[in-house]
Order: sequence, then structure tokens, then C-alpha cells
Amino acid sequence: MAVIGIESSAHTFGVGVVDDGRVLSNEKEMYRIGTTGMIPAKAAEFHVKNSAAVIARAMKNAGVSARDVTGVGYTRGPGIGPCLQVGELSAKAIADELGVDIVPVHHGVCHIEIARVLSGLKNPVVLYVSGGNSQILKRVEEPKPHYHILGETFDVGVGNMLDSFAREINLNPAWGSSVEKTAHGGKYVDLPYTVKGMDFAFTGLLTRATELVATNSKEDLCYSMQEVAYSMLCEATERALLLTKSKELCVAGGVAQSTRLKEMLKNVADEHGMKFGFAGNEYNADNGAMIAFVAERMLKAGMHSRMEECDIEQKYRTDQAVLP
Ligand code: FE2
Repeated sequence: MAVIGIESSAHTFGVGVVDDGRVLSNEKEMYRIGTTGMIPAKAAEFHVKNSAAVIARAMKNAGVSARDVTGVGYTRGPGIGPCLQVGELSAKAIADELGVDIVPVHHGVCHIEIARVLSGLKNPVVLYVSGGNSQILKRVEEPKPHYHILGETFDVGVGNMLDSFAREINLNPAWGSSVEKTAHGGKYVDLPYTVKGMDFAFTGLLTRATELVATNSKEDLCYSMQEVAYSMLCEATERALLLTKSKELCVAGGVAQSTRLKEMLKNVADEHGMKFGFAGNEYNADNGAMIAFVAERMLKAGMHSRMEECDIEQKYRTDQAVLP
């Protein structure tokens, strides 16, 4: 008995196999963005070329054969249309070939749910931070179980903001992880800080840091940008924790790989005597196991879809996804 999960919302084509909540394998191939940023058609072409091999490797490493598979899940969105389509078509081919149930899932919900369950949290306030998304959420049961969005970015996701700056100053690889490395030893430079209630905005911060590149060191700007952006997230998250009287905090998504962000969030949780949880980085980076993990829970709850209902949704919002 095993469920396959396929992730292809952006640069990663990932396939995971899960059995009763246990991750049996988690394989991926990643399209290298380089200095140009993401070119959707090129990324989708990369996924098409790699899909069969990654699926085969995930099944082999999980030790499962076709007859062990009981269902397949794939990322419906949010993400880049041509990339999402490759995952959708791969999942449909598996469902059709093996005669098993299929279920489309929400990418962000998968990051959140695997982090929440693996860290032993019940109903935390969640900070979901990735390239395209930055949201503060909490599960509610009405009218159907879903993550209610308490606060979110007004413009770009914090990850894309950091990636854009990394490209601006020619870091290699041009990602937030390089900004974090470059930030060591940097000194503080004043940058715009924008929090409105539990919402926040990052474009002004990026614009001002870019203006200051000519007159400041990379180290100082990376340090300051990171401290300002993460302080904004911490302030809004702390407000959400206190307003909801929550006792648990969870961080998930690509930017949850940042050691500095987790350190700052842990301080917030410790100050209020709250539990703080997160998943290992293999589940914060895009991956197929988290898709299989949530797909299995949905299939067990009878939430499979008919093949003709299965589609993709580039702007699939987290609060539109019904939870198992
Ligand atoms: Fe992601």
C-alpha cells in the first residue's frame, strides 16, 4: 500500500512515496535558474525530460511496485502554469495506467501539514514563507476545514524578494540562502519596514536596498535586508499568536530553511511560553513527499477527484483548499 506524490509547481520536479504517514522515498531533479530567473517554458521542458526517471527512482527507492500503489496526488497550485501541467499529466498517466484514485492538492498546505505533523503540533499559528507566498494562517473548521489567512504580503513573497536581491548583487547561486551566507559579519543599514496589522510588504525594502548597492557593502545590505524582512514577519506573527491566543507556532515553506528566521521565531515563541515547530529542510524545499503525505490523508478521508475534475490553478489560494 503506497501513495505517490508529484510536485512540479516551480523549479523542482519531485516525487515522493508515502505509506501510512511514513515517507518511503523523496526524489527530485531541480531546474537551475541561473542569472536569468525562471523561464517557465524551459522549466517545464526540464520537468518533461526528467519526470519518468524521477518517478521510477522514487518507486525503486521506496521498494514499491505498481501493484502496491493505491493512489496518486499532485500539486494543483499555486505555481507556474506550464510547470504545474507536467505534474498534472504525470499523475493522470499514473492514475490511468494503474487504475488508482487521484487527488489534486495545494502546495502550501502540503508544506504546512508535513511540518505540523512531524513537529507534533496540533493547531498552530503557521507562518508560511516561500518564493511566491508569505502568509500567516490558522486552521478553522467552518464552513469546511481550511487554513484561514490572518495576514499576508501585499506584494511579493519574501523568498522572491531575497532571490531578486541575490541576482541584483550577482550572488551564486542567486537565492536567499546566499543572502544568508553573505549577511554574516554585516552591519545594520536603515531600510524601509512595512507592517500593517498582520499584513506586510517587501517591494519598498527591495527597491531601497537596490538603490544602496553602489554605496554599501553586500554584507551590510544582506544583513540589514534579512533582519528587516524577518523582523516584519516576526512582528505580524506575534500579533496573530496573541490575537488567536494560540499556544503553538509553526514555520513552513522554502524560507523556513533560514537558520536566522527560525532563531528569531523561536525567540518570539519562547517569550510567550509557546511551542515552536518546523520540518527538516528536505520538506521546506519543494519536494514530492509532502504531496504524497497530504494526498494519502485526503484519499483516506474519501477526498479523491474524478479524472475530468483534475486541473491546475496558478493562483490557488491557501484558504480555498479544503483540509482532510
Ligand atoms: Fe514550496
